Amino acid sequence: MAGPVTVGKSDHWGSRFGFIMAAVGSSVGLGNLWRFPYIAGEMGGSAFILIYLGCILLFGFPVLMAEYALGRHGQRSSIASIRKIVTENKKPIAWVGMGWLGAIASLLLFSFYIVISAWVFDFVPQAFLGGFSGFDAAASGENFGETTSNKLEIFFYMCAFLALNVFIVARGVHGGIEKAAEILMPLFFVMLIGMVIFAVITGDAARTVEFLFTPDFSKITFDTFMAALGQAFFSLSVGSCVMFTYGAYLTRDTNIPKNAGLVASADTLVALVAGFAIFPIVFSAGLNPEQGPGLFFVTMPVAFGGLPSFVGGIFFTLALFAAFTSSISLLETGVSWLEDQKSIGRVKGAIGLGVIMFFMGIGYIWMPEMIDHASFLSGDVMLPLGGVLIGIFAGWVVPKSILENELGKGIHLEIALVLLRFVVPIFISIILILGMIGKFFPDGG
Ligand code: PHE
Repeated sequence: MAGPVTVGKSDHWGSRFGFIMAAVGSSVGLGNLWRFPYIAGEMGGSAFILIYLGCILLFGFPVLMAEYALGRHGQRSSIASIRKIVTENKKPIAWVGMGWLGAIASLLLFSFYIVISAWVFDFVPQAFLGGFSGFDAAASGENFGETTSNKLEIFFYMCAFLALNVFIVARGVHGGIEKAAEILMPLFFVMLIGMVIFAVITGDAARTVEFLFTPDFSKITFDTFMAALGQAFFSLSVGSCVMFTYGAYLTRDTNIPKNAGLVASADTLVALVAGFAIFPIVFSAGLNPEQGPGLFFVTMPVAFGGLPSFVGGIFFTLALFAAFTSSISLLETGVSWLEDQKSIGRVKGAIGLGVIMFFMGIGYIWMPEMIDHASFLSGDVMLPLGGVLIGIFAGWVVPKSILENELGKGIHLEIALVLLRFVVPIFISIILILGMIGKFFPDGG
């Protein structure tokens, strides 16, 4: 395999605020609004959430730091950065495979992410035009079914969403991704807070608190662990080298542990807050928390049914923004590598990957059941597997001096190293293996 011609990334984040918005923008997305509530609902709520928080702290956070650190050290796309690190330190070149796994996982995630985003997109005009007015649970459920089976319409919205992604990523990091995130993310936060206040006042807040925070340990199985682990990685955007890629655009004066802490806290907070926007309505409208991927799309219109139509319209617009700032980070991971291949470049890379994603997206629109499989394979298997590899790589392969240089010396580094060297690889492997056995041999045989 010929090595890429790389000179290091010339594009960088313009400011700390810009980086934080882009990084939080990548983390906060459909994972928080759509995936977290429905998986928490399916898994019985509180016990899942407790394990989820543990996964963020023990596995997700150290991997997030490692990705930023190695990305900034490498100053290239994830694949090229790994190649640089292993050649400089005379380590096995096979580690480059970790970058490939990440790039493939990112593109697989992107391929169905654009379809769920198209559902959100479709809800924007529906909401603005008063389409949810007077909705009860049954009407909303029916509406969601009709929306997703209107394939041509979803196809149209997917194309629009995909084209916007290609456009922004082609414009570059500072001029495209950072600008978009700086405008969209603050708007999103304001709206989310408004939604929670509304849901808590009008919905069943007491049952929500009980559902989310009173652990019922009888509900825990290995499935719960695997789902919580996958969701933690999915939500934080770690395990697929996306944060590796974003790390490459970090300037030297950015404090990585502090910023990683900020990103992880913001992401976790938004997931919990999204739970508080959704579950009060689930309980007061008599909806089933275990209904799966449709949960977000069925509950929210019920909430908006009795409100002026612009409220729902703005909410879905902002959910779309959050999805958008996440999807561009997935696409960027692939494009950044193609850009390092001097012969391809950013614009051609974005368009080329866009075309491949277009065809995959069509596949999901016509076979929506594939979304579940793709989400399981990429989110619950490939991301944690990527986490194990990143843990071993950062903890055992990369010289400690590199991490010291990027993360600073001190007790935080020692803790991070213990987590990366032992906790991440050992526990994630156990959860993955037992989770797979549980999934494919549910009767224990
Ligand atoms: N974290 C994003 C979300 O919550 C999804 C994502 C996963 C983005 C992995 C990048 C990498 O929606």
